[in-house]
Amino acid sequence: MPKYDPREIPYLGRCWIKTKALFPGARLIRFPVHIKGAAMIDFGKNLTTGVGCRFDALGPKGCIRFGRDVQLNDYVHITGSSSVTIGDNVLIASKVYISDTSHGAYSGSAEHSNPDIPPKERPLAAKPVKIEPNVWIGEAVSVLPGITIGHGSIIGANSVVTKDVPANCIAVGNPAKVIKHFDRSSGLWERSAGDERKTDERG
Ligand SMILES: CC(C)(COP(=O)(O)OP(=O)(O)OC[C@H]1O[C@@H](n2cnc3c(N)ncnc32)[C@H](O)[C@@H]1OP(=O)(O)O)[C@@H](O)C(=O)NCCC(=O)NCCS
Repeated sequence: MPKYDPREIPYLGRCWIKTKALFPGARLIRFPVHIKGAAMIDFGKNLTTGVGCRFDALGPKGCIRFGRDVQLNDYVHITGSSSVTIGDNVLIASKVYISDTSHGAYSGSAEHSNPDIPPKERPLAAKPVKIEPNVWIGEAVSVLPGITIGHGSIIGANSVVTKDVPANCIAVGNPAKVIKHFDRSSGLWERSAGDERKTDERG
């Protein structure tokens, strides 16, 4: 089976030429791509993206970092003003949102934001995000500021990740909760004894 539809080849050829000119380390960037602060982004090696991705690098150099062989599908939006790190071999489905940034502070010891100030004028507040190697993030997931997703874990489609996810787990839902973990002795993804979903969240 051919990997690409032949009717797509002229478009892909144009994307390949632009990729090599504009993102020499990348494998293939599908255009259009929307980038703020490109010089602050470490694009890693062999990055592949779908169409319409958006990267907003609002902080210092390296505030968004991709490892090797990362693949993003269409319309992935990543915002980094402090640190968003995407590890080697991470696979991200379409319409995923990952951000280390909020307009204002609403928790913690920093001064909290006043609702009389328009949101776009509130100082940005950032909590680093880390997606460890071999993670797979399903379609339309949101990963919120301050989150670490551990090595090899999987986030189910449409989940909202509000708490850290340990390594080698499957987490699903809004808020995302761990339902399975990889058992090295059986080689199977086993149901987690501590499945924290309430009865009415289960199918
Ligand atoms: C997360 C995922 C991999 C889990 O697969 P799985 O382990 O085979 O799932 P199961 O069918 O055994 O489901 C286990 C439980 O999780 C629930 N569940 C699975 N995926 C879910 C999701 N995305 N959101 C909410 N609940 C989910 C199931 O309803 C089931 O609930 P139960 O305990 O009440 O029966 C899969 O469901 C998924 O979301 N895949 C992502 C698909 C995608 O985005 N593809 C893009 C291609 S890059």
